[in-house]
Amino acid sequence: PAVLVLNGPNLNRLGIREPEIYGAMTLADLETGLRADFPDLTLRFEQHNSEAGLIDALHAADTVETAGIVLNAAGYTHTSVVLRDAISSISTPVVEVHISNVYARESFRHTSLIAAVCSGVIAGFGVESYRMAVRHFADRP
Ligand code: DQA
Repeated sequence: PAVLVLNGPNLNRLGIREPEIYGAMTLADLETGLRADFPDLTLRFEQHNSEAGLIDALHAADTVETAGIVLNAAGYTHTSVVLRDAISSISTPVVEVHISNVYARESFRHTSLIAAVCSGVIAGFGVESYRMAVRHFADRP
């Protein structure tokens, strides 16, 4: 089984972008770290800055080979009805993740339009949020 780690807008700038919030690790470092932590799992990584790119990636990943999708939809989490509809349209389970604790930040980050159609939400643990979500799918039979 494979797990898709799907990152949304501006996450290609991890390590450069607001490091006091998101840390010093780059997206490439995150990928390398997860591959090292889950050597027996087929991990796929995609990052898209557009809603269309994220939606197409969700549709394409909805195959029997995909055990689950770890999604950091970034700012689209708080705004995107179409992303929510895309998650609803697939049968592959999706876990919503965030690096920062969105509930400790601006109030517009407290609303997630996608949480209700995801299996669960992990936020606030830095890159460890991704590790926990991948672990969830890795532990499933
Ligand atoms: C984020 C939180 C979002 O509110 C923000 O727009 C991001 C990153 C996080 O991982 O903490 O781009 O999803």
